[in-house]
Amino acid sequence: MQTGAGFFGSSIGKKIVMAITGIMLIGFVVVHMIGNLQLYLPAHDGVYALDTYGEFLRTLLHGSGIWIARASLLAAAGLHVWAAVGLTLMNRAARPIGYQQQQYDASTFGSRWMRVSGVVVLAFIIFHLLHLTIGNILPGFEHGKVFHNVVTGFQVPWVSAFYIIAMVALSTHIHHGIWSMLQTLGLSHPRYNGLRNGLATLLTIVVIGGNISFPIAVLTGFVR
Ligand code: HEM
Repeated sequence: MQTGAGFFGSSIGKKIVMAITGIMLIGFVVVHMIGNLQLYLPAHDGVYALDTYGEFLRTLLHGSGIWIARASLLAAAGLHVWAAVGLTLMNRAARPIGYQQQQYDASTFGSRWMRVSGVVVLAFIIFHLLHLTIGNILPGFEHGKVFHNVVTGFQVPWVSAFYIIAMVALSTHIHHGIWSMLQTLGLSHPRYNGLRNGLATLLTIVVIGGNISFPIAVLTGFVR
């Protein structure tokens, strides 16, 4: 095995970086979705579970918990994009034929689509931070009133539509990502393809199903 800069400069090194940071990012998305399920809990004495949860996250470890989580996520996302760009450039440099005659097979379609869906997910995250963390997309945002901000946000049809479209892009990204990650981590024998696909599909459906349910629940008036 190569070590040091050589390892990270190699294609397998970059794939391993993508796999490890991918696991961290998917882990965050799963935990975030489970936390957001508290949208469905009724208020107790006028206090929403989602607001208490937000307060808990903001005050964890005397307020440093959220910054540790933010720094880890930012590092993971940065490394993930860095490795993706590196792999793309390496693949382009190694391509023996010009773009004109290029034949798209299943694997090149998969990695092209990963780039497109990756950019959509990145755009979504920027919008999402402006919408629900910074609060400068819609009028009426109130810091700390997480339930109010989520519900009033999703009551705006274009906001809900944007979230739903972004979640579709995220689902294809996560599905192909889990599939590729398991291959990088050694589960590439044809005997395990069914298992890999099953695992990728199950996780994708759970995460995306949960996330898409939030705007739909608000739009239909189930949560208000
Ligand atoms: C419909 C689905 C989602 C809902 C309802 C939702 C809700 C929220 C809310 C309410 C916050 C602000 C929490 C607070 O200020 O206390 C937040 C923050 C955040 N969300 Fe989401 N989220 C969703 C999907 C996602 C997805 C799919 C991702 C990643 C791909 C994501 C990434 C983040 C990040 C990075 C933060 C910022 C955390 C911070 O630095 O404070 N969210 N989300």
